[in-house]
Amino acid sequence: MEQCLNLPRLIAHRGAKNRAPENTLAAINEAAKCGAGWVELDVQLTKDNVPVVIHDRTLERTTSGSGKVKSIDSKSLTSLDAGRWFDARYKGEKVPLLLDALDLCQKLNLGVNLEIKTFDTSIHNTVLRTLSVVNEFGRDFEEKLLFSSFNTRVLSILRNLAQNSPRGLLVDNFQSDLAADLSECDCFSIHPAISFLENQTTIKKVLSFNVPIIPYTVNDINTAKRLAELNINTFITDEPKIF
Ligand code: G3P
Ligand code: CA
Repeated sequence: MEQCLNLPRLIAHRGAKNRAPENTLAAINEAAKCGAGWVELDVQLTKDNVPVVIHDRTLERTTSGSGKVKSIDSKSLTSLDAGRWFDARYKGEKVPLLLDALDLCQKLNLGVNLEIKTFDTSIHNTVLRTLSVVNEFGRDFEEKLLFSSFNTRVLSILRNLAQNSPRGLLVDNFQSDLAADLSECDCFSIHPAISFLENQTTIKKVLSFNVPIIPYTVNDINTAKRLAELNINTFITDEPKIF
């Protein structure tokens, strides 16, 4: 794939997740305040097929609700509290619709790394509904929206439905043939867990793919310096403020 993204140095993980409740509008606002150029957000579908921004398969950890995201409709989901678990001053924060999260990013001039999660929902439908929301923004996110997934089926469906939308392969193990995965899904970038950039064998392997490397999650200056020596200058961080 042709290089067609204006990558930032800092991508704030789930918004600025250490400073505000993850994947909320507050976390996106905080990321902008901390100087991140982009945010990483997790998207999945509700029972009524609405793309929403939330990380876990279930509601318990980050909301006042319980059960699976895929089993609740969007109206009920967005009535839950998604801030109080983090800090009482965020009481009343909601799980955002993808539409509202992107709208805020557009207003704040933030780029977006959108990770598609498919917890037992139809992959095709999840990708289709997500693209449909993204497409509402026309060219607003041109050069500043990068999809990603651990799931190569998500990436290949993305490639089929939206060939020109850049895709990143998330990697948390080296079991599969990564070169084949990158090529089959026509990926723009690889997003390895930072642990794979801590030993020479996996560093060499990751560098050999010859695509932009966007590690997650980098939370200290020394690691950022070491990455810069490898010419890796974009990373996903929980702590955008310290860089
Ligand atoms: O995109 C990087 C990172 O967010 C992937 O892992 O579990 O935090 O979504 P996770
Ligand atoms: Ca994520």
